Amino acid sequence: MAVIAKHCPEYQVTVVDINHERIAAWNSDKLPVYEPGLEKIVREIRGKNLFFNSDIEDAIKKNDIIFVSVNTPTKTYGVGEGMAADLQYWEKTARQILNHAESSKVVIEKSTLPVKTALAMESILLSQNNGLTFDVLSNPEFMAEGSAIDDLEKPDRVLIGSQETEEGRRARDILVDIYAHWVPREKILTANIWSSELSKLVANAFLAQRISSINAISALCERTEANVEEVARAVGLDSRVGSKFLNASVGFGGSCFKKDILNLVYLCRGYGLNEVADYWEGVVRINEYQKKRFVLNMLRTMFNTLAGKRIALFGFAFKADTGDTRESPAIDIARHLLDEMAEVVITDPKALDNVHFELGDLLGTGRIHMISDPYKAAEGCHALAIMTEWKQYRQLDYEKIYRSMMHPAFIFDGRNILDPDRLYKIGFNVYSVGKSPLTHFQD
Ligand code: UGA
Repeated sequence: MAVIAKHCPEYQVTVVDINHERIAAWNSDKLPVYEPGLEKIVREIRGKNLFFNSDIEDAIKKNDIIFVSVNTPTKTYGVGEGMAADLQYWEKTARQILNHAESSKVVIEKSTLPVKTALAMESILLSQNNGLTFDVLSNPEFMAEGSAIDDLEKPDRVLIGSQETEEGRRARDILVDIYAHWVPREKILTANIWSSELSKLVANAFLAQRISSINAISALCERTEANVEEVARAVGLDSRVGSKFLNASVGFGGSCFKKDILNLVYLCRGYGLNEVADYWEGVVRINEYQKKRFVLNMLRTMFNTLAGKRIALFGFAFKADTGDTRESPAIDIARHLLDEMAEVVITDPKALDNVHFELGDLLGTGRIHMISDPYKAAEGCHALAIMTEWKQYRQLDYEKIYRSMMHPAFIFDGRNILDPDRLYKIGFNVYSVGKSPLTHFQD
């Protein structure tokens, strides 16, 4: 919304939320999310045509266009538990719009939703026959965290789905005009509303599938002396495949990939498409396997016991340049290590506060430590594992780190950001994803 407000000064944009604390933070000097470039924009236009407040009813009354961006987490109860999207917040919002609207509205699905949700929304919004019209559009968001502002400023595409009726097309054109303030027309795609809803799930499924594909191959590389980076490069240079999103890792995280794939799988099963569902479920299965494999490898390499060993996790965020830890692979790795009775030291430049939230149930073990300085975090450790590809971790003085650690010292690079040969020469035993390990021991 900040980017829309920035490019469309003649529109007044108001962001409302039921969470008063968050709204207060949006109005303060310390924004509630870290996203490069966001603060600058908010500071420039807040109070001009971008406003944050908690008066949802008033916002419904006064605005003509409503973007609904409520969360759609995976259901934790009832039918579809653990797979389907929980649509209760969406439905509540639709009813709230209906109850407080005094004029016709264009309602835009920004949240990621299962295909056909717009139909339910329209049925609710039109249920009172109150003379108002509600046009529901789908406008899925493709930005990624950490690069959100760049992605919004220069999107590969903007997708707008509408009903293929005269009113639907009219509503669609209103939204096209907003984006056309800064996005070239040829990048603004219009589609039928069901294609638009489905495209969001499929886009994330394809992206996650690439990571699981290269991660699956990383396991084979480790057995065969092939190097996954060399394989990814050779494969990615085929322009039909493309080179992006082929970095083998400890596994993908984030609030979207797993949730959206499970949602897709659930949809397919609902339509009796079990083979299709199994195919996509495999993407999530490989991701779980990759995380487990990483810890098993640590266990095997460190003489089959981690009990009492101190292990530093470098990074807790699910990717660099964000403080977000939702579904971060570091959480599972920490849990597996704690199961093995290890001491876990966690460091991260932005996400350390979230350890309480993500691992709260295990803090009582007394075996989780949070240390913001990576040098101090590594002190006295038997091993360190790179969990997040923070730039600063590439530039650390690993000789100094090596000297402060227990020996033999191990590095497990879950992001392939470090130079294994250099670390090996320093004295480390080095394990990188999808590469032959470099150890100072005889096999
Ligand atoms: C993802 C999509 O990339 C966005 O297009 C989409 O809009 C967003 O989900 C969403 O649905 O909201 P995001 O989860 O923010 O964005 O971050 P990604 O850059 O996709 O990274 C996801 C995970 O994959 C991270 O843990 C990252 O480290 C990992 N990853 C990414 C790899 O392990 N290897 C890669 O080659 C790329």
